[in-house]
Amino acid sequence: MRILVTGGAGYIGSHTCVELLQQGHEVIVVDNLCNSKEDSLKRVQELTGRKLTFFKIDLLDRKSLIDLFDTLSVEAVIHFAGLKSVGESVNLPLRYYHNNVTGTMLLCEVMAEHNVTTMVFSSSATVYGEPKTVPIDENAPLAPTNPYGRSKLMIETVLKDLHAADKRWNIALLRYFNPVGAHPSGLIGESPQGIPNNLFPYITQVAVGMLSKLSIFGDDYPTADGTGIRDYVHVLDVARGHTKALERLAERPGVVTYNLGTGKGYTVLEVVSAFEKSSGRKIPYQIVSRRAGDSAESYADTSLIKSELGWVAEKGIDEMCADAWNWQSKNPRGYT
Ligand code: NAD
Ligand code: UD1
Repeated sequence: MRILVTGGAGYIGSHTCVELLQQGHEVIVVDNLCNSKEDSLKRVQELTGRKLTFFKIDLLDRKSLIDLFDTLSVEAVIHFAGLKSVGESVNLPLRYYHNNVTGTMLLCEVMAEHNVTTMVFSSSATVYGEPKTVPIDENAPLAPTNPYGRSKLMIETVLKDLHAADKRWNIALLRYFNPVGAHPSGLIGESPQGIPNNLFPYITQVAVGMLSKLSIFGDDYPTADGTGIRDYVHVLDVARGHTKALERLAERPGVVTYNLGTGKGYTVLEVVSAFEKSSGRKIPYQIVSRRAGDSAESYADTSLIKSELGWVAEKGIDEMCADAWNWQSKNPRGYT
């Protein structure tokens, strides 16, 4: 299949490109490189021994998108492109709504004009907001607590409405929990700009000596050791979820929504301990106050994706830690 991957130079996109190329798909990447480097795509090609086509295009640039769809017969779109920093979205809501929501709407318009109606979309567990119960299934209430999360929920709504109005649309909404780790080759991985917000890249940068210690946000949650629980899922499992979703849309068209997680939660201290074991490095940490907007516990009910797609996460926390460390130790400054 000829697949357009928006945001394909980014963290999850680049790992999904590997999976797509290894499965024999033809891959076209569109990315404006606002949060990534083209180097990731060079490495994807090195890793797979296969070529992909890259266009540096902003999704908001309608004319360039039309030109692309006019010249290449795209069959399906995997749509990763978006801004993803929760804190930044609170300060720059218009930027987030414009980039994420308007960008998706423009993409959908151009797709429809070219009769391309299959899309896999990167949603997020953040659409659930503070969960009432765990594990979280796909029918849990949707109440995101920040502009980033609300942009994801708005896009989900737009895409569902699109299908309601025009049954040619086939859409998979994938709600990722906490994607972590890297390709085991150590060639591609997560390369955040500036000081990382998320736990895994923060830990790996402490381990490599770029940051002095981890701050753990709260040890007074109602969990076994008081630190927050999350459902960490290996990025290669996440990538495989996308090819599974495409297969499902080809067999049974419609709109589907799936959680992508392992179904198992780990506390921050459990992650630190697993990482120390995998890397052989000590992670110095201090306990600080809770981070605004954080919930005590979040992990997925994965029964739907398991029963409908046969997808289950295959890699556990030790592999996530080992692969994250392998990437960071081989690329201390990420892509240069
Ligand atoms: P990332 O920032 O590494 O990748 C996103 C890519 O999109 C980047 O390469 C960026 O340059 C590109 N991009 C952004 N706006 C664009 C635009 N207007 N036009 C063209 N390209 C644009 O992020 P990621 O971690 O790979 O996440 C991919 C998707 O998954 C995002 O939509 C994100 O919101 C979603 N998601 C990520 C996580 C996570 O923990 N990483 C969790 C849930 C959902
Ligand atoms: C965060 C975002 C979420 C987004 C996801 C992926 C918030 C409130 N949530 O999820 O919307 O989809 O990232 O980008 O920002 N922790 C520390 N110290 C750190 C970093 C994190 O103790 O330096 C803790 C957190 O309190 C949490 C856990 O580690 O308990 C995981 O945090 P993180 O990796 O940021 O992911 P989420 O908060 O789940």
